Amino acid sequence: MPAAIADVLKRMIDGGGRVCVLTGAGMSAESGIPTFRGTHDSLWSRFDPMRLATAEAWREDPALVWGWYRWRMQLVRDAQPNAGHKALAELARRVPLSLVTQNVDDLHERAGSTVDAHVHGSLFALRCFACGQAHDGPLDDYVEGQQKVAPMRCTACGDAIRPGVVWFGEALPDDAWSAAVDAAERCMLVLVVGTSGLVYPAAGLPALARRHGATVVEINPEPTALSADADHVWRSTAAQALPQLLAI
Ligand code: APR
Repeated sequence: MPAAIADVLKRMIDGGGRVCVLTGAGMSAESGIPTFRGTHDSLWSRFDPMRLATAEAWREDPALVWGWYRWRMQLVRDAQPNAGHKALAELARRVPLSLVTQNVDDLHERAGSTVDAHVHGSLFALRCFACGQAHDGPLDDYVEGQQKVAPMRCTACGDAIRPGVVWFGEALPDDAWSAAVDAAERCMLVLVVGTSGLVYPAAGLPALARRHGATVVEINPEPTALSADADHVWRSTAAQALPQLLAI
């Protein structure tokens, strides 16, 4: 850990100030979950988000969209939380910590974290596309390699069951966004982990925290759109960097 970052983190953590952690897809990369951008096998380099991650795409071909999300859900089910997820869960037992994630997987929860805000929703929070009723029933069986899968049907109105993620062009869940803003405004330290900082309004949270007096530390092996405005940049990965926080 760079000495300057160790000093600021120790001062902040020993000072009892609240820590806000904002995570993105890079948080789950070391669990084998592909990120959206930045590598040859990233999701948006292989798939067209406009055909898979919009309400229009769903209306056009719900079986294609559901088949893709069913594949992503299986990836997450087959994955395990990494050392970074586990370190954040342990850190929350030692300091006041708010966890805000753009990720729709459940790896933070499976590592033992309480997620204060899933600002882009959750893969497994299924609901009816038409009437919005939550689908708490069993998940349909996953068939490896099946690209198109007919969505399950709503027991209330018979329409198709969609994933509970925020698609491009959709509003963020009010409660999640309010919790995220509250966390950013009340913290003394923001750890921005594994996000390219390209998708707003989530990408605006570190700047909001900074305007409220927080110190911003970015943890990312690559430069991002947020790096220039961070107080400190730690060029490392989630699973390598975050466990080091426990040794401070
Ligand atoms: N540890 C930390 N960061 C990593 C790691 C790692 N092991 N591997 C990659 N990264 C970084 C990359 O350098 C990149 O900056 O994670 C970031 C991933 O960026 P994106 O793929 O753009 O993911 P994210 O920022 O979460 O995307 C935001 O875009 O498509 C939408 O809804 C989707 O929530 C998503 C949003």
